[in-house]
Amino acid sequence: MSNVFKRTHMCGILNSSNIDESVVLNGWIQKRRNLGGLIFCDVRDKTGIVQVVFDDKIPQELFEKADTLRSEYVVGVKGIVKERQSKNPELPTGDIEVFANDLVIYSEAETPPIYIKDDDNVDDNLRLKYRYLDLRKVKMQKNLTFRHNIAKIAREYFDSQGFTEVETPILIKSTPEGARDYLVPSRVNPGQFYALPQSPQMFKQLLMVGGTDRYIQIAKCFRDEDLRADRQPEFTQIDLEMSFVDEDDVIEIQEGFLKKLMKDVMNVDVVTPFPRIPYSEAMERYGSDKPDTRFSFELKKLNDVVAGCDFKVFTDALEKGGDVRGINIDGGSEKFSRKDIDKLQDAAKHYGAKGLVWMRIGEEEITSSVSKFFNQDQLKEIAAVFEAKAGDLILIVSDKAKVVFDSLGFLRREIAGRLNLLDDTQYNFLWVVDFPLFEQDEETNSYSAMHHPFTSPKMEDLHLLDTDPGKVRAKAYDIVLNGVELGGGSIRIHDKDLQAKMFELLGVSDEDANEKFGFLLEAFRYGTPPHGGLAYGLDRLVMLLSWQHSIREVIAFPKNQAAQCMVCEAPAPVEKTQLEELGINIK
Ligand code: AMO
Repeated sequence: MSNVFKRTHMCGILNSSNIDESVVLNGWIQKRRNLGGLIFCDVRDKTGIVQVVFDDKIPQELFEKADTLRSEYVVGVKGIVKERQSKNPELPTGDIEVFANDLVIYSEAETPPIYIKDDDNVDDNLRLKYRYLDLRKVKMQKNLTFRHNIAKIAREYFDSQGFTEVETPILIKSTPEGARDYLVPSRVNPGQFYALPQSPQMFKQLLMVGGTDRYIQIAKCFRDEDLRADRQPEFTQIDLEMSFVDEDDVIEIQEGFLKKLMKDVMNVDVVTPFPRIPYSEAMERYGSDKPDTRFSFELKKLNDVVAGCDFKVFTDALEKGGDVRGINIDGGSEKFSRKDIDKLQDAAKHYGAKGLVWMRIGEEEITSSVSKFFNQDQLKEIAAVFEAKAGDLILIVSDKAKVVFDSLGFLRREIAGRLNLLDDTQYNFLWVVDFPLFEQDEETNSYSAMHHPFTSPKMEDLHLLDTDPGKVRAKAYDIVLNGVELGGGSIRIHDKDLQAKMFELLGVSDEDANEKFGFLLEAFRYGTPPHGGLAYGLDRLVMLLSWQHSIREVIAFPKNQAAQCMVCEAPAPVEKTQLEELGINIK
């Protein structure tokens, strides 16, 4: 055991302005090379790497100690910063090196199971098992610091706007966010379960009834759903709620936050107000309720031009009330071979598309997978809808509206990715507004809440509640950045009669409503301010602004694809006695 050297500098910040200064560094050995009379070590801490040199002018004993250093040994080094003879432009500290005059080895290290290098390509599960080694990478430490800064700016900004940070409970009753709950058995109440919050939704509304006026929480949420690049079973929201507001008030406050955030962490000036796109328009133009507007390829409806054509697939879809729509890829004809299109078609099948019709626009002629059914004039008429020109590629899907939107929405983005049109440094924020209040189940025709059952309808659509509920729009809004849903929220119902009406339309009996949300409904009887709010996915926000493509890169200890924590090996079986105490039998 030895005393800890008192650090003067972090490794990664040293540069030529430090030349001739005495410095003391603490960190890990990235690598060591012995070139006879000289030993070079790269020393790493969370800020970066710096080269340290032990030369033959130092005492023999020190030189010998330096020669024992191996990767991942933890050391303290004292030395003088010197200009480097052969500079390394790849390294931020590449202009200088530190000539050591003292060294302490705090701990030795076995050869680590993963190589600690930013661009190392190791198996995901191995990376997650040895996450503490993975986290030593400067890139990972930068991601954590970046996340910290975003959370800090959120707290500061919302504090300046009168928000109070309040913690809400984790052991609660099910929240109506629509995913599966994680359940926790109660020992003291045998046979009963807590649910982990899918969001603090009901508690933040209770805080408004409680007079908190403006609430913020960096809140852990839990949803038992399938994992994706932007989905984890436990994730974090910047959760917000405000009293005495309508949609515009919430949106304005959020735009202030995002503008400040973009300036402070990215030094980017974003223009506010952000575009607001009604849900129906987002679907019609982009086939998605989270449109990526960094590129065009907008959807066009072809129902009219193909009506009565000889191609049965199209006419069948139309007869069944479906749609025929397509996208035009500018100059895409040369870039996508027949094989490429087959692959795109296979991918689109995951979204329900049964096929993909293509049209290549030539100088003279249009070639197409459906040339048998359409003459040149008819094909030209379709091309005209897209204002297509020679060299373009049109892709068409026909089916029920949802399949057409989902598959074309997917293809738009997939193709943009293949054509390198997804520029991470362009920030297209937009609001999707005017969501439908209800979603209709195709089979049962019954309605469910598109957001959650406390979302307020638009006042101007109230009259449709009884006659045409599918047409009622909600006071709900999503904030979208580059095709990712960053956050979403709504103005809530604060009127108990309207809430009762909602439950009636949703087919929720009084009994059911009371059973599930009775405490909230009761609270609403004692004086409820108009209120509304929004929650950002913090992980997604950090992911996008740090140009990562999975939220795992910005979560210290994420779950793997099978929802397991590879570090502590959860979930895991428990002791029989624990189950007995809980009165639980495993089938
Ligand atoms: P919503 O369900 O839209 O709204 O969630 C808000 C935001 O949380 C993020 N998010 C996720 N991030 C990572 N992994 C997940 N599994 C996951 N699920 C959601 C998304 C999403 O936009 N209580 C409401 C908010 C409100 O009405 O105020 C809610 O939770 O970025």
